Amino acid sequence: MFSQDSLLDFLKESPTAFHAVPWLSRRLQEAGYRPLDPRGEWALEPGGRYLTTRNGSSLIAFRLAHQAPLDAARMGVCHTDSPALKLRLRDAAQAAPGLLKVPVEVYGGATIAPWLDRPLQVAGRLPLRDSEGRMRFLPVATREPVAVIPNPPIHLASLNDGFRYNPQTQLAALLPYAGLGELLAALAPEGCSPLEAPLQHTAELYLADAQAPVAMGELLQAPRLDNLTSCHALAEALCQEEPPACTLLGGFFDLEEVGLNFQSAGGDFLPSTLLRLANALGEGSPQALPRMMAASLCLSLDVAHAFHPNFPELFDPEDSPRLGQGPALKFHANQNFATTLPAAAYLQDLAARSQLPLQTFTPRSDSRCGSTIGRMVAGSLGVAVADLGAPIWAMHSLRETGSLSDTKALQQLLQAFFLDKAPLPLP
Ligand code: CO
Repeated sequence: MFSQDSLLDFLKESPTAFHAVPWLSRRLQEAGYRPLDPRGEWALEPGGRYLTTRNGSSLIAFRLAHQAPLDAARMGVCHTDSPALKLRLRDAAQAAPGLLKVPVEVYGGATIAPWLDRPLQVAGRLPLRDSEGRMRFLPVATREPVAVIPNPPIHLASLNDGFRYNPQTQLAALLPYAGLGELLAALAPEGCSPLEAPLQHTAELYLADAQAPVAMGELLQAPRLDNLTSCHALAEALCQEEPPACTLLGGFFDLEEVGLNFQSAGGDFLPSTLLRLANALGEGSPQALPRMMAASLCLSLDVAHAFHPNFPELFDPEDSPRLGQGPALKFHANQNFATTLPAAAYLQDLAARSQLPLQTFTPRSDSRCGSTIGRMVAGSLGVAVADLGAPIWAMHSLRETGSLSDTKALQQLLQAFFLDKAPLPLP
């Protein structure tokens, strides 16, 4: 069942990937998924539900079929990160008594202007020492707004004439603290203390919008719709009660915005997890994993560019999804999207059989185009992929606008995909 309250809660409580993953983990555990220790030997049982995390910011959950678990898997993947401004803690300095100035690095392809002149919170992961002296790395957030990046006055700078911000010199956050130590102490959970410099400078702290998500009729405006809407729909589809006909897997990965690393979708986390799963169920046959992947289908879930009434020239007039008319299947001749023909045909048939809306998106032939983790997963695993997601406006802005009904329809389509008894198309 789609729950608007649950979606809004997830958006509000997930200022960074370090917060999204614990939220998803709690939700999945409520639905019977048991955490697996990556350092342990996994004893997996048919019908079992499991999850494992990496770096505190990526998560893979899977639900094994009761029978013939190696025939195929129905999979979904999405990302937990979003473009943001990361604090450069080593450069923190007092701008004035009681005023801390912390420059930033730009993470991912962020739209800069919306970050200025608004209340911001600080959130991320802090190195701490607990009461027994052990080093811990825990998600933290101020919750309350504590920072602002003020614009210069328009009398002194031509802000309306294509002004470019210099991220090194002009985007420092200003915070009402007497020093960095005071900010870190305010962030530390009870029973833990922040480390001294220079270890405290290793903290991964980001600025985040402090304003709560807003629903305006069917419109949803919030930070990080890209890609928390897909994460929420995928997690909810994995939590449905009805037993699936085959193995299900959901991957939630950090670092989509920047690429390959320890915890990213293109790294070893997904193949190594699938290898352990296939080995456990395939009794160690080296053919288990490639057999399983050859028979599987993976949906790469990420938001799509919705047709923008103020900028119609940026969109193909026919092949652009409209807000509120359902998720969109994405195509691109040069393969920024990994959708294969059989996967597209299967999904459009599934949507028709399930009476759910499914739009399509192909970027203009004369424009640039973003990409997704779809092709990384397709190429590294040897699994057929379809790229799809809910359309939104202002992708990569601090606050993006989408539609509640599109996120609901995406969840329903994923639920139908996971329970569908029709055979998957061969790639
Ligand atoms: Co995205």
